[in-house]
Amino acid sequence: MEVIICPDARRVGEVGGAKVAGLARQAGPSVVLGAATGSSPLGTYATLAGLVLRGELDLSGASVFALDEYVGLPPDHPESYHAVIDRTVTVPLGLDPARVHVPDGARAGLSTAGVRYEDTIKAAGGVDVQILGIGSNGHIGFNEPASSLASRTRVKTLTEQTRLDNRRFFASLDEVPVRCVTQGLGTILDARHAVLVASGAGKAEAVAAMVEGPVTAMCPASVLQLHQHATVIVDEDAASLLRHADYYRSVQATLLNEQGAGY
Ligand code: GLP
Repeated sequence: MEVIICPDARRVGEVGGAKVAGLARQAGPSVVLGAATGSSPLGTYATLAGLVLRGELDLSGASVFALDEYVGLPPDHPESYHAVIDRTVTVPLGLDPARVHVPDGARAGLSTAGVRYEDTIKAAGGVDVQILGIGSNGHIGFNEPASSLASRTRVKTLTEQTRLDNRRFFASLDEVPVRCVTQGLGTILDARHAVLVASGAGKAEAVAAMVEGPVTAMCPASVLQLHQHATVIVDEDAASLLRHADYYRSVQATLLNEQGAGY
């Protein structure tokens, strides 16, 4: 696992965007990106949007697969992940909406939503670069603690903590959906590269458990320790509980010395 510690959240977005852009260029014009919702990757998306705007990155042939969707919110609800991905990813990155996919959270057909989504990812050739945030309880996508480390896209029930964390996007807690369709941890592990971004002290415990704790379903993000190409980009606050922070800094300093910024 590569751990990059940045001075602040703004820099996390710049480094995250540069890292994803580099991997996207390597993958070629029909790159398949995996997109997370939430506040964490917004800076990364803004950096990518800037590169696209300046003609330094062409994502016009890219496909995108969102990680998850709430069950029961119509796609045109402003807080459905269909709408959030459209607003924060599809439009700013100049993507073709026909190639942007979000799991189907409609109650009708829910039992096949996971398999249908897995089939669509497979047909696109798999995800090249998966962008991730992390929940305060260590979830990625909506894989809550105790999720199977081998899980595939399926329906999950949100924890009270996650509903409280996401309450800020809704008028009341009652309006926060209880269930979701999320890519599984096994699905996420299949991505060729994973880039996780996190900032703020509220993420410090989850980040430490993910990077330095045991691989355990109780911290779903810790499954990334099994990924061959996982990069974790955090600010000082989110890194504050990492015991080996000095080592990660020295690795980055060595890389910088030898080859310039590696991202
Ligand atoms: C939601 C999303 C996750 C995201 C998490 C953290 O639960 N399903 O993909 O990583 O929130 O959100 P934020 O980045 O806003 O803290």
